[in-house]
Amino acid sequence: MTRKTMMGMVCGSLGLTLMLVGLTGPARAADVAPLRLCSDPTNLPFSSDDPKMPGIYNEFGADIAKALHRPVAYHYYKSYFGARTVRETMLSNKCDMMIGLPFVGEFMGNDVVVSQPFATESYALVTNKGVTFASYAAMKGKRIAVQFESTPQNVIAEHPDITAVTVLKPAEALAALAAGKVDAAFMWGPNASWLNRQTYGNKFAIQPIGGFTMSWPVAIGFGQKSRPLMHAINKVLPGLKADYQKLEIKYGLALGKPIELSRIAMRSSLIVKVADTVTAPVAAPAAPAAAAAPAPAAKLAGDPSMDPAVIAKGREIFDGTCSHCHGPDAVQSDWHIDLRLLNHRYGNDMFKVFWTTVHHGRPDKGMPNWTGVFTDKEFHEIYSFLHSIQQRKQTQG
Ligand code: HEC
Repeated sequence: MTRKTMMGMVCGSLGLTLMLVGLTGPARAADVAPLRLCSDPTNLPFSSDDPKMPGIYNEFGADIAKALHRPVAYHYYKSYFGARTVRETMLSNKCDMMIGLPFVGEFMGNDVVVSQPFATESYALVTNKGVTFASYAAMKGKRIAVQFESTPQNVIAEHPDITAVTVLKPAEALAALAAGKVDAAFMWGPNASWLNRQTYGNKFAIQPIGGFTMSWPVAIGFGQKSRPLMHAINKVLPGLKADYQKLEIKYGLALGKPIELSRIAMRSSLIVKVADTVTAPVAAPAAPAAAAAPAPAAKLAGDPSMDPAVIAKGREIFDGTCSHCHGPDAVQSDWHIDLRLLNHRYGNDMFKVFWTTVHHGRPDKGMPNWTGVFTDKEFHEIYSFLHSIQQRKQTQG
């Protein structure tokens, strides 16, 4: 996961316009302030300013407002860069909430809090009907269209025997497939199904892809100050499941069960772990990690292995699982998840913080709980690897 991946989910197209329209509900309801949705006017299937085709998020926002007995208003902001959009709209109090932020992972530090997730969205492989790729191995020698700076681009780059054809927009990926220039397009599922339906008469097959970094629980983002609203919405969200499913069908986004293309992704226990965090109350900030640390086995405490074989094993596990968020070999330019700084940050408590964090996760921050996924021996191997690469100072990664 990268910040960019997340941003991709709230991206629209370049340019900045500002409008406030769509106030509904009786005018006399002055005592009931409208629920103001931050929305992109040109981002179908998610949102649009066309009342005939408002988009799945705009319609869902209206459902939520109805459940809260409030009118809905749309604040439109044509966006290109996610963080900037969030700052200029929601964090500037022009609107109250933004539907469609990824539930996993922090979003803009502590500025944005997210609701419980209401859906899962995935990347997908789009092919001609009758053609399927069930693994990366099956794509050997094939040409795969990927969007610039997307997760699939990064993943395909790890497979030198697959030819990546980089495009800038989802529509270009499908155009390349239609023209026979690629064998598949590996792209964001909702965009794929929407284009397939609107432009290609459902001529392509769409296979959603599961696993870490491919499938995301999707939630609603709020500014810190709107926590009370978030709690109110968390209460009504479970009752709106059927409404959202109806909208998924209406917009052609019900894609079926994702398959997993790689060994890492196949550890579906990881997905369950993330899903578990979903039912946990989102509100309570985690206790300071060091304070909550269980007493680790004495012989492990602060006692990493120096054995290169153990370090190599830890590195292998790390690169298989943790690297999706913390970077390959823990090289990560985002300083606050740069695990090369653990020693710099925690000194003698480094082991305690590590041990607590991997066993309990930080669900509210997007760090999964890995208990049951790895054995303590494996955690110790990961720790030994991390210990071997600690840096004194922050680097540019
Ligand atoms: C889905 C993304 C994700 C994955 C995968 C992930 N982490 Fe994390 N991890 C995070 C985030 C986000 C944080 C920062 C939490 C915070 O801000 O407090 C974090 C924090 C940590 C910390 C504490 C860092 C600190 O400075 O306090 C440790 C240690 C850690 N992760 C270890 C691991 C290990 C080991 C793995 C693999 C078994 C792993 N993580 C996999 C997202 C992830």
